Amino acid sequence: MSYGHEPDLVFVSARLPTRLMSLAPFQDSITGTRPGRVDQNGEVLVDHFPLLGLRLTTPRLELRLPSPEELAALAESAAEGVHDPEVMPFLVPWTDRPPAEVARSVIQNHWLQLGAWEPEKWSLQLAVFHAGAAVGLQRISARDLRITREVNTGSWLGRRHQGQGIGTEMRAAVLHLAFAGLDAEEATSAALADNHASYAVSRKLGYRPDGFERRVVRGTMAVDARLRLSRADWDRHRTTPVTIEDLEPCLPMLGLPAS
Ligand SMILES: CC(C)(COP(=O)(O)OP(=O)(O)OC[C@H]1O[C@@H](n2cnc3c(N)ncnc32)[C@H](O)[C@@H]1OP(=O)(O)O)[C@@H](O)C(=O)NCCC(=O)NCCS
Repeated sequence: MSYGHEPDLVFVSARLPTRLMSLAPFQDSITGTRPGRVDQNGEVLVDHFPLLGLRLTTPRLELRLPSPEELAALAESAAEGVHDPEVMPFLVPWTDRPPAEVARSVIQNHWLQLGAWEPEKWSLQLAVFHAGAAVGLQRISARDLRITREVNTGSWLGRRHQGQGIGTEMRAAVLHLAFAGLDAEEATSAALADNHASYAVSRKLGYRPDGFERRVVRGTMAVDARLRLSRADWDRHRTTPVTIEDLEPCLPMLGLPAS
């Protein structure tokens, strides 16, 4: 299952940089409420899996990996509905299942992506928190990032949280991670032709059309439109302030050299 369209691809450059040096300090900034802070017999999970400490913050949102309880809340949010059932926005129609299965698939996909993680091919699925509640999921993924320097994104929001600018803000957060944090050169996205909200988000953030593909969704032909954002266009359109915390220890897992 992939949130958005094509799953996981992104990149990063070998020159990482001075801008990473200014990111918040790592270990000490993690509070007791962060998902990675699981102390047991002196062991701390985030020390072994630093992605648990990564956090993106925008004026209204926080994006990070969820704790087990937060994952349950996220799954419930998906089970309550992500889109008009008449119109399928996903290439893999995972939301067509009964609500309990939709919830379970969110949980299994979370574990699947973390379990299958490789520095050369990864998919980071960040829970999106608004006013303390898990409201959706923003994916950023990459393949051979150090060489390709390209990332791909996909997302969903619980239906009752849509139309308030949250989708734009959470995409802006991972674009900042890609371009400012990981030194990417391009970001891609895709949306089925009738997904006006997804297009609107991409347009606002500066993406340009990048071709079409004919796909099969619910047994019929659907046109999937690819979109591409260059670093220069990102820079021209960005308006959302984003803070990145604890990226440095994650760099090797993202296929990038530690700075
Ligand atoms: C796509 C999605 C993440 C966007 O999140 P969101 O919070 O609703 O998006 P925003 O509120 O930030 O922006 C939505 C934009 O779409 C526009 N929009 C929504 N429906 C529209 C329509 N039918 N026609 C034209 N524009 C539309 C809104 O006006 C808004 O643009 P504006 O800010 O310029 O007015 C969310 O709608 C969602 O989860 N949809 C279902 C799952 C999905 O489609 N995922 C993406 C798969 S590619």
